[in-house]
Amino acid sequence: MNSTNSAPEPVPPTSQPPLGLGVDIGGSGVKGAIVNLDAGTLHTERIRIDTPKPATPAAVAGTVAEIVTQFSWDGPVGITVPAVVKAGVTYSAANIDPSWIGTNAEALFASYLGDRRVTVLNDADAAGIAELQFGAGRGEKGLVILLTFGTGIGSAILYDGVLVPNSELGHLEVNGKEAEHRAAASVRERKKLSWTDWAAEVSTVLNTYQALFSPDLFIVGGGVSRKSEKWLPLLSVNTRIVPAQLRNTAGIVGGALAARSL
Ligand code: BGC
Repeated sequence: MNSTNSAPEPVPPTSQPPLGLGVDIGGSGVKGAIVNLDAGTLHTERIRIDTPKPATPAAVAGTVAEIVTQFSWDGPVGITVPAVVKAGVTYSAANIDPSWIGTNAEALFASYLGDRRVTVLNDADAAGIAELQFGAGRGEKGLVILLTFGTGIGSAILYDGVLVPNSELGHLEVNGKEAEHRAAASVRERKKLSWTDWAAEVSTVLNTYQALFSPDLFIVGGGVSRKSEKWLPLLSVNTRIVPAQLRNTAGIVGGALAARSL
């Protein structure tokens, strides 16, 4: 046994990074995690609860409250929804329950979450903020358009790092059809399209966006970005295009970032 009487080693102070809670409301799941706001990474495991059916605002708010309680979190919460959001009010419901239209989502969530700051924003906008700060858009200047391909097509327009919210490019009519009815990832699955056929539809949509906005960069995200090697090389568009990097954490991270900055 070592009997030297030396002083105990000083314990280095443990510095906790700044943390936030992000919750991402999707068509099939509500997912949340505590986020390291300095690194843009998840500080905890994700908690996922099936989206209630019907996904009315009150039912979803109950699910969000359950997630917040499971984390024993009492700080600000950033919540993302697949809808247009202005000053906390949701104004559209393309792939969610129509009763969201005109709901003051921020006030509703706040009433379920007690006395704390609650921030609500569009899901693709949240992903855009996160990718720009910590992912594929880091250091990018000029006009960046992030697109998420999932049940619908979400979009975030960022110019020199500043978000122009609620762009909703998925609903732009492209050759007589809404972009998201032509090229969402769900369309590929439903119609059992080959990667080549689906990529052709995505190219048609991207070329329309390119003609309208002349972006400097497209970032493509959503679940299908995990398989980007299968379809990115098949796209035909002149603008530089890269896959999103944060994958399925972008909404959560972006929500937490928004809650801090607002
Ligand atoms: C909604 C958008 C949303 C996107 C991705 C679209 O149908 O209108 O608000 O960002 O789906 O979820």
